[in-house]
Amino acid sequence: MNKERKLIIAGNWKMNKTVAEALDLVRGLKLELANIKEVDMVVCPPFTALSEVSKAILDSSLRLGAQNMNENNVGAYTGEIAAVMLKEFSVRYVILGHSERRQYQKESDELISKKAAAVHGASLKPIICVGETLAEREGGQTNTILQKQVNGSLAGLSKEQMAETVVAYEPVWAIGTGKTATTAQAQEAHAFIRGLIGKMFDETVARRVRIQYGGSVKPSNARELMSQPDVDGALVGGASLEARSFADIIKNSI
Ligand code: PGA
Repeated sequence: MNKERKLIIAGNWKMNKTVAEALDLVRGLKLELANIKEVDMVVCPPFTALSEVSKAILDSSLRLGAQNMNENNVGAYTGEIAAVMLKEFSVRYVILGHSERRQYQKESDELISKKAAAVHGASLKPIICVGETLAEREGGQTNTILQKQVNGSLAGLSKEQMAETVVAYEPVWAIGTGKTATTAQAQEAHAFIRGLIGKMFDETVARRVRIQYGGSVKPSNARELMSQPDVDGALVGGASLEARSFADIIKNSI
């Protein structure tokens, strides 16, 4: 597939996989994906598996991501993880503002923008998630919500930082539900988000930013989604927990 931007496909393992299970999965992925160079491939295990997975992928082209990070560098923040701790394990990407964290941990756009600044401050790359709920879509609020989330969570980034930021469009109604956005819905939202970034930063930055689609991505729908001009990859939940399906999503996207 001839794309303007290099595809980035990341597996968000969420709260799944013990260390032993994580290593099993990574072994499978390394076998399946040995010769792939066309796509940036990222796995995001839970914090407890970062250390072992980091060692296991050293001799592969898989890259490591974390699922969250605290906005402070150090200090009395019980249960939290700082950038410097992630860097110890060669983490390159950090997912921020996933809809599950927006919902269960009540993360706001303002907090996500602080975290994004901290991620860039540590020379890591954030994957910042945005997306509307079903009620918002049905109420004709999709663009308003996307605008609020994009403006709020990307606020304060420099142009250079924005160009190195990945945005994930994840309609909440498509996450873990088996319902995927149609390619037209995905393309429309991605183009809208790119337009917003163009207005906030500039056109050059907007053309460089990679926007992933997330929400029930599977081997069977990856190719069609990835064929859209503004879809530059995928953030995969459920289908990233098994080597074959995650690998097939990547292979079908090339
Ligand atoms: P899903 O999750 O692929 O299981 O729908 C996507 C995500 O939450 O990132």
